[in-house]
Order: sequence, then structure tokens, then C-alpha cells
Amino acid sequence: MHNRRSFMLGAAGSAAALTLAACGGEGAGSGGPDPEADPSDLTVGVAMPTQTYERWVKDGDNIKAGLEDKGYTVDMQYADDDIPTQQQQIDQMITSGVAALLVASIDGASLSAQLDAAASAGIPVIAYDRLLTDSENVDFYVTFDNYEVGVNQANALLYGLGFLDQEFNEAPEAPEGPLNVELFAGSLDDNNAHLFWQGAIDTLQPYFDDGRLVVPSGQMDIEQAATQRWEQETAQTRMENLLTTHYNGGEELDGVLAPADPLSRGIINALQNAGLGPTIEEGLPVVTGQDAEIASIKLIADGVQHSTIFKDTRDLAEQAIVAAEAFLKGEQPEANDTETYDNGVKVVPSYLLEVQMVLAENYEEIMVDSGYYTEEQVESGQL
Ligand code: BGC
Repeated sequence: MHNRRSFMLGAAGSAAALTLAACGGEGAGSGGPDPEADPSDLTVGVAMPTQTYERWVKDGDNIKAGLEDKGYTVDMQYADDDIPTQQQQIDQMITSGVAALLVASIDGASLSAQLDAAASAGIPVIAYDRLLTDSENVDFYVTFDNYEVGVNQANALLYGLGFLDQEFNEAPEAPEGPLNVELFAGSLDDNNAHLFWQGAIDTLQPYFDDGRLVVPSGQMDIEQAATQRWEQETAQTRMENLLTTHYNGGEELDGVLAPADPLSRGIINALQNAGLGPTIEEGLPVVTGQDAEIASIKLIADGVQHSTIFKDTRDLAEQAIVAAEAFLKGEQPEANDTETYDNGVKVVPSYLLEVQMVLAENYEEIMVDSGYYTEEQVESGQL
């Protein structure tokens, strides 16, 4: 049991008492999809948060294409990061009789009424990448190893600062420090943000403890570091404020923990606007990332952004479809984690995928040789 890895939103400590058998679900509620139904008679509802992050667009495209390939009809809706819009979209999907729901929430705790309605209608619900919290009516969860994302982000930062070598062991010529870093987190209503943070902080803590790393702003709580709705501009403004308030006397900033590529780019804008860089070699602080967005892969190739985390959304979409199909055939999808994702009411059986750290020295291999991006896309920074 990895205690440090389980994160519980809310206060429902009693969740541990529920057994998986009791909450694994049979699909959900009464009725449920007819296991004999032909895919061409079934519609799958797909609720997506926003198109402003490249990854959600790719996720959506992959899910839609994959389901349609199998003969299903897809009702996919993006909610513009607006909670009432997402609630309405899901209400509508339920009313129109979808056979299953895949939901990437905006605020994981805001959809309880929709999840209740889905359960009453016998519609199985799969949480897609983001955990749906505070509800027992979540049947399955497909995601990446989110704690590992944070560990990888912190290791990338430590590597970029020279504390770790290429194998991520203590570097023989590691700096004595103290080196200065600032920390950014994602949106507090996204359970993932907490796991990314936890993984990163657990990894960085020994360096804070022995003084090799210092956070000059003192902003070391997730609440202080959070970026509401994962908005790039919010991160950029916070970075600007940190620079004016805490680095105006010649203090050097060495690195920034950034949890997602659009935030990394906002932070890099702020740093460059303040005259740092423009490349790492020329003094830009080491900035981490996540999602391997094309614009950030270009920045990594150009020596500007230090790292990102690649999460192959093709695999996640595929896994979501496998899970949806299992429910539609009256079966239970296979979980590979039944401990970590306590949503405040129950532990949601989950399927976790692995993640990869991307740096200047391996982006070619991971992002281009694998066929994910072409060399031209990396050069232009556009899809
Ligand atoms: C996802 C990240 C993404 C972030 C912002 C998180 O829930 O796991 O991949 O960068 O949301 O959209």
C-alpha cells in the first residue's frame, strides 16, 4: 500500500471501508446497456474540458476515431472550461440515451448530479484522465501514473540544475547550492494537480531539507503555487510578480517547477521579458513541463524549455475504448491499480499508463522517431 501515493479529496475517510466488490459496479445502476446490442445502435458520450490545451484536442480526436472505427456513434462535446456548460452537455447526453459516458472533467467534484442521473439510467461512467470525485457513481478510471509525472518533473529539474546525472543518480560534481527555485502547481479542482505536486515535492523535499534548494518567495504550499483552470496567463502573471517582488535585488533564479507546457511557456515569457535567457545556455532558468505539446518540443529543441513529460494520448484513448467496450458487453474492464484513486467516496478501479521524460537529448527519439511528430512540425513548432 503506497500511502504517499493515495490522495483523498474531501474528508470521506470512511471510503477505505468500502470493498472493491461493492463499488466496482456492474456498469452502473439498474438496466444498463444491452450486451447483445450492435455498436451501430449505440452512442458513446464523450465530455471534454477545453480545446485550449492541445492534448485534449488530440485525446478527443483519438477517442472519436477509435470508437467510430468500431462502429459506435460518438457524441463528443468540449465545454470551454466552463463548469455549467459541461454539466449541461452531460445532462443532454444522458437524456439523448448514450450507452456509456467518457468524462474528462473541468472540476472533478462538480458533476455529482450528472453522475447520479447516469447511474439511474444504467449508463456506465468512465473518468478520463481526471478523477471524478465525491461520487460513488464512477465505474472506472483511465489515466497515467500521475504521481510519477510529478516525480519525473522534479527529477528533470534536479537534472537540469546539475544535482542528478543522466541516470538520475547524485551527480559527482553536484553544486553545493543553495540554488533558487520557484514552484507552480495546476488547478486545485483537478485531482491530478495534487498528485503531480505530491510526486514533485516528495522528490524535492530532501533538497529543501538540507538547504541545497531554496524557494526565495517562500511560496511552498500548493494553494500558493496553484494555477486556477491551468491558465497560461495566470502563470505568466504570477511569475512576473515573483520576479518583481523577490528577485529585484540581483538574486538569481535557477529553476522553475512548472506542471504543464502552456504554463511553462507563460513562465518562460515572463522570464525572457525580464531579460533572462533567451536560452538556458544564456542563463534562462531551467523550466519543466508536461504534455509534450509541439510548441514546447520546439522550445526544448531550441534549448529554451528544459523538459516536458510525454503522455501518449493515443494509448489513453485506446484504453478508454477498451474499458467502454467491456462495460457495453456487460463485462468489467481490467484494472491495474485498485488502491491509489480514492475519490472521497470510494476507490475507483483504475488503469494507469506510464509516462516518459523528454529532454533536449532524447526528444528526437521519443517524439520524432516514434512517429508522434514529424521533424517539420518540431522545426515550426506547429501541428
Ligand atoms: C492533465 C494534464 C494537463 C492538465 C491541464 C491535467 O488533468 O493530466 O495532462 O496538462 O490537466 O489541462
